[in-house]
Amino acid sequence: MAVADVAAALVAPAADAPELSLIAYGDVTAGCVRCALAATRTQVVFGSGSPTAELMFVGEAPGFHEDKGGVPFVGAAGKLLTKLLDGIGLSRDEVYIANVVMCRPPGNRDPRPEEISACEGHLFRQIELIRPKLVATLGNFSTKLLSGKPAGITQVHGREQHVVLGGNPVTLYPIFHPAAALYTPRMLQVLEDDFRRIPELLGRAAVAQVPAAAPAPRQTVIEQPSQLGLF
Ligand code: URA
Repeated sequence: MAVADVAAALVAPAADAPELSLIAYGDVTAGCVRCALAATRTQVVFGSGSPTAELMFVGEAPGFHEDKGGVPFVGAAGKLLTKLLDGIGLSRDEVYIANVVMCRPPGNRDPRPEEISACEGHLFRQIELIRPKLVATLGNFSTKLLSGKPAGITQVHGREQHVVLGGNPVTLYPIFHPAAALYTPRMLQVLEDDFRRIPELLGRAAVAQVPAAAPAPRQTVIEQPSQLGLF
């Protein structure tokens, strides 16, 4: 990509041609050396799915299979995520799936604070370009990063929060990481229960983002979505 294209990809407004902006941004990140993970990765694992998805999932970090294939959530946890999506009538192509860090930490260790800080700009840029209405955070790392709060996933799973991400209002929905549910039936049950609420939350998030029509004279103007019982 030419230098001018790289610059354009970094500043292109999300509203026009989000696909192109996202693809261009993916190209830009392919050579990222912002943290030490660049030295040990096979490749950068950029997000995948629909560039106009209303629903986005954010996991933790690529594992062995993602590092080899260059696509997030294609290993065992990814297969469970695909199955859970299928259970609510959605396919991977209809959503967007990304991670807190885009490069595999060696041996699948937890991402370090400096790696998360180095990569967070890439995640926020993807959110800004895609403009999802509902962001489901999978596990502790994405939940803490995107909520901006220290509360862990066990405490907050299944409880939606209202935040601004990438300059847009977003419903944040923390749920357990599928990897945590792979071998623990009780955890899988909780994850399935939390997943079942996604269609309803998506519907509510979409309504909350519809711009209000110009108020008729003397009509009560509701300025806070909370007054509509949406939040
Ligand atoms: N776990 C994650 O958090 N992300 C992946 O892409 C795969 C497994």
